[in-house]
This record gives sequence, structure tokens and C-alpha cells, in this order.
Amino acid sequence: METATTPLADRRYAVSLFSRLRTAKGQSNPFPIYAELRSRGDVSAAPWGGYLVTGFSLCDQLLRSRDWLEPDARWREQQGDGTRWTAASSREMSRTLPALNPPEHTWVRRSAGMFDRGSLEQLRGPVERFTSRLLDSLAERLHDGEADFNALVGEELPVATVGYWLGLPTSDYPRLRELTHDQVFTQELLPSASQLALSDAATAELRTYFKDLVRERRKNPGPDPVSRWIEVWDSMEPDRDRADDAVYFLTLFVLLAAQETTATLLSTMTLLLLEHPRQWDRLTVQPDLVPAAVEESLRYDPPTHVISRVASRDLVLGDVEIRKDEMVHLMVAAAHRDPARHEDPELFNMHRKPAHLAFSGGMHYCLGAPLARLEAQTLLHQLVTRFPRLTLVRRPTWAPRVAFRRLLNLDVALI
Ligand code: HEM
Repeated sequence: METATTPLADRRYAVSLFSRLRTAKGQSNPFPIYAELRSRGDVSAAPWGGYLVTGFSLCDQLLRSRDWLEPDARWREQQGDGTRWTAASSREMSRTLPALNPPEHTWVRRSAGMFDRGSLEQLRGPVERFTSRLLDSLAERLHDGEADFNALVGEELPVATVGYWLGLPTSDYPRLRELTHDQVFTQELLPSASQLALSDAATAELRTYFKDLVRERRKNPGPDPVSRWIEVWDSMEPDRDRADDAVYFLTLFVLLAAQETTATLLSTMTLLLLEHPRQWDRLTVQPDLVPAAVEESLRYDPPTHVISRVASRDLVLGDVEIRKDEMVHLMVAAAHRDPARHEDPELFNMHRKPAHLAFSGGMHYCLGAPLARLEAQTLLHQLVTRFPRLTLVRRPTWAPRVAFRRLLNLDVALI
């Protein structure tokens, strides 16, 4: 494995690379930039301090190792006032599941108890119904010409699904979706001050919304996950306020985690298949290949391009020394195209059975992966059977983010 060159030269190079990556053009196709980064070695210096990891095997090992921690509340406080890590939204996120380290992470993750076979099966019927209803509205729009698949379907199915599961009123969906788009900035790689302000405001509104929800479910429990979490936390935590807090943080994070990521998967997968018409045509006659097409989409362009960790002690990564508390950014989308892991990695090929890190790995492995897969497979199955003649009108645009991909449109038509 190659090593980084001198840290200073490396950081200067990374600055120019990230400024290209943070534009709409860079997001439209970040992969040549990732290839450049990967060619400089598996580990290189990040522009703002810390390191970037692009090798698949190193990213995979790091996610599974107990030596690397989440940037938790203690770590964020250490970064000092005035940094992004002490913004109100970041402090709030520091109490959610993916920002916890053991032993707290272990109890909270156990309390979430999400998506065994039975609970997933219960969602299959509703997800099929929501999908078919959304595709009815797509059909109507396509009748008159082109339609924005991202707005009509990609962004709608995830909020309909998670909203139904949590038992939220449908009239709240548009606002919750907007708030999620704003809230995500605090989890981005380099949020600006104005993006952090948007995220802080969205977080405050979501806090009020979900605190009220938990209070209401405590009074009127039902057969929903929030009521179940209240029961679980009451058996673990004698202090009611603390139990309610724990349930609030779980509910908040689940809503945030379930929306943008899944919306990006649904639209990206549709885009990739429309850009590869031979594979699309194959799916229309062989829909049993749908799960494989979803996995290859998750490898080829995952919704989350970056996952971050900090060193629990002085460590050596590849042959780079990393000091305790230094941050590493796993560039998972770059790692997914690592030629040492995948043959012909730049080729979209649904016939491979790809290893990927789209849902992370190790103890923080995504708890919603079964639901995201259910939505993606249900949608793709219905799409290729109902709309075999779907075509792309123009390449979409992406929000200028780096860590969390977001398509802004996906214009399609029938041929
Ligand atoms: C395509 C859709 C999705 C993608 C790409 C995705 C991706 C991820 C990733 C990368 C992580 C780990 C972050 C880390 O290691 O620091 C994660 C964690 C998590 N995800 Fe997802 N996610 C998706 C959908 C969902 C859905 C639908 C839900 C819930 C219904 C969900 C709930 C969670 C939870 C609770 C965690 C925290 C796990 C932990 O820290 O122990 N995700 N997700």
C-alpha cells in the first residue's frame, strides 16, 4: 500500500480537490475526483486536519475495529466553542444512537430492536400500496409528457413509509421532509455558518415535534414503535424524564435516518438503470434480478459517501500514524470503486454480487437496512413491470454536498 506524501503538500492538494467536490458539477460526478484521491494512496491528509481513507479493505477493517470511535459528546466538547461541533444541532445529534460509543451505544441499540422478519413483513403490504399509489400519480403525469420522478416518487415513498411505521399524521410529511433536508447540514463534512443555522433551527422544531409525540404516546400508547420504546425504556430507566428523552432521541434519529438516504437510493438506482438500458430491459423480463440491481446501485453510488470516526488512542493506519482523537473520514464511495476489491469497478454491472459499505459495518451497521431494501426492491419491481418504456429526459442535478448525496430532480418520460 502507498503512503501519503508530505502532510503539508497532501493537505494543499486535498483543499483543491474538496473545493471541486463541493460544487454541483463535482457532485454530478465525483468519481474521477475520488479516483485521483485514491491514486495518492489508501490514506491521505484531509484539508482541515485528520485523514481521508479510500481503500476498501482499510475502511472495512476500521468500521469493524473497536480502536475507532464515533465523534461523541465528549469529543465534540473538546473541539471548543465556536466550532461546528458545539453548534446546537451537533450537540443534539451527539445524543443520538450513531454518535454513541460503548457501553451506552450497546444499551440504546438493544432498546431500538428494529426490523426482525415479523415486523418487516408487516410493512410489506403498506409499502406495496404506497408504491403503487405513487406510481399511479407518476403514470398520470407521464400521460401528459415528462415527470420529475424524484419529487413524485423518490422523495415520497420514504416519508410515507417511516411516517406510517411511526404513526405520524400524513399532513405532517411535507414539513418533516423539509426539516430533514435542513437538519442534515450539521452531519455534512464542512457545513457553512448559514447551513449550521438552518440545521439548528430545524433541530429545534423537530425537538418540539418529537417531544410532544413522546408525551402524547405515553398518555395514549398504541401498537407503534414509539409506544414500544417507552415500555422498553421504562423497564430500564426509573427516571421517567430520562426515559422519555431516550425515546425522543431514538425517534428523532430514525426519522432523520430513514428519509434522505432512502430517497437518494430510490432515485439513484432508477437513474443508473435508465442510464444502462440493456440492464433495465433485462430487469423488465427478469424481475427476480431486482435485489441484485439494488445492491449494485448501493455499491456504485451509495447515498452516504463519507463515514467518520476518531482514534481511541495513538494508532497506525496503513503506515500513517494517527494520534488519539484525530478524525478519519472513510470515503466509502471511493472505496466502493477500489480496483483491489472489485473487478472493473467503474462499470455498473448488476450481475456482480458486490461487497459494499453503504450501510456502514461493525457495531453501527444501519438498523434500517432491511426497510431501505424493502422499499427499493418493491419500487424497482413495480417500476420495471409497469413502466418498461421509461426513459431519462436529462441528467439530474445534485445538491452541492459531499457526505450525504441528494438529487434535486430526475426527469423521466415514456418512449
Ligand atoms: C438507503 C438507505 C439508508 C442508508 C444508505 C443508510 C446508511 C446508514 C449508515 C452509513 C449508518 C452508519 C453510520 C456510522 O457508521 O456512523 C446508518 C446507521 C443507522 N441507520 Fe441507516 N441508512 C439507510 C436507511 C435507514 C432507515 C430506513 C432507517 C430506519 C428506519 C435507518 C436507521 C439507522 C439507525 C437507527 C442507525 C444507527 C445505528 C447505530 O449507530 O448503531 N437507516 N445508516
